[in-house]
Amino acid sequence: MSSDFLCVQDLCKRYPDAKARLGEPVFEHIHFDIDRGEFVAVIGHSGCGKTTILNILSGLEEASAGVVLMEGHEVSGPSLDRGVVFQGHALMPWRTVLGNVAFAVQSRWPKWTREQVRDHSMKQLEMVGMAAAADKRPHQLSGGMKQRVGIARAFAIQPRMLLLDEPFGALDALTRGTIQDELLRIVQATRQTVFMITHDVDEAILLADRILLMSNGPRARIAEIVEITMPRDRTRAEMHHDPQYYRIRNHLVDFLVNRSRGYAADGELASLHDPRHPPVVRPGLAVEDAHGQAGSGDTQRLRQVINL
Ligand SMILES: Nc1ncnc2c1ncn2[C@@H]1O[C@H](COP(=O)(O)OP(=O)(O)OP(=O)(O)O)[C@@H](O)[C@H]1O
Ligand SMILES: [Mg+2]
Repeated sequence: MSSDFLCVQDLCKRYPDAKARLGEPVFEHIHFDIDRGEFVAVIGHSGCGKTTILNILSGLEEASAGVVLMEGHEVSGPSLDRGVVFQGHALMPWRTVLGNVAFAVQSRWPKWTREQVRDHSMKQLEMVGMAAAADKRPHQLSGGMKQRVGIARAFAIQPRMLLLDEPFGALDALTRGTIQDELLRIVQATRQTVFMITHDVDEAILLADRILLMSNGPRARIAEIVEITMPRDRTRAEMHHDPQYYRIRNHLVDFLVNRSRGYAADGELASLHDPRHPPVVRPGLAVEDAHGQAGSGDTQRLRQVINL
C-alpha cells in the first residue's frame, strides 16, 4: 500500500528526558497512507502519541526516525497546505476572534482586499456559530467557543489537508453534533482530506473512511486499520439504524477495553503483529467479507485471535 498523497514511513519519536538523554520511543514503526479525499481518524489511549504524530504531519515536530511525504515531498516544516486544529486552541490572545481567522486568510491569499478577507472570515465564523462574537478576544470566550474559532480558522484557509486534534473535545453535545454535521457536509462536498484524532468512537464511525487503532505506549504502534464499510452518505440521525454500526462500534470498544494493551511491545498479541502491515479489518461486514487484505501466517492467526 502506498499513496501518492500522504505517505508515512517508519515513524518513531523519542523525547529527551530531564537529563537530555533520549527516552524510550513513544511510538515506533508507524506506517500508514492517506489518499486524497480520504478521512482518516485515529483512536488510542491517552499518551500513546497521537498528538505527536499529528504535530509531525503538520511539520511542527520532528520525528526521531522515519519520514512523512506529502505529494512526494518530505514534510519538513509548517505550511498553509496543512490546516491544524490544536487540542488546546492556540489562538492569538491579542487579536479578536475575527482577527484570528482573518490573519490566517490574509496569509493564505495575500492579494485579497480587506473586504474579501473579512467576508470570507465571517462566513467561516457563521459556520461555527461564532459570528456574533467576532469582536471579542479569546480570554472572553469559553473553551468550546475558542475551539470553534480554531475550527473556523483551519477551514478558512482551505488547506490540502486538515489535521484535527480532538477538535470537538470541549464542545457540549448539541454544538458538537451541529459542527460534526457541518464538517461532514463540507467533507462530502469538497472531498477535503482529513486526519483527525478523537476519543469518541461514534464520531469516528460517523466521519471516517478508515480508523487507525493505536496500541498503548511506550513503543505504541498501529495495531489495526478499521475500514468503515457503511455508505459514505451516513448521517448522525440515521447511522444507528444500520446493522453495520453496532458491529463496528463493538469492535472499536473491544479494542480500547481489551486488545490495545495486548498489542503493546510486551503484550500477548505483539509477536503475531507486524506493525509495518497491521491487519486491515472490516467489522461492519459479515464474517466472510470482513478479512480485508490477505496476510502472512501470523496475520491469519492474529485475525483468528481478534475474531475476524
Ligand atoms: N514535548 C514533550 N517532551 C517530552 N515528552 C513529551 C512531549 N510531548 C509529549 N510527550 C510525551 O509523549 C507521550 C505522547 O504524548 P501525546 O501528547 O502525543 O499523546 P496523546 O496520544 O495525544 O495523548 P492524549 O490522548 O492524552 O492527548 C506522552 O507520554 C507525553 O508525556
Ligand atoms: Mg493528544
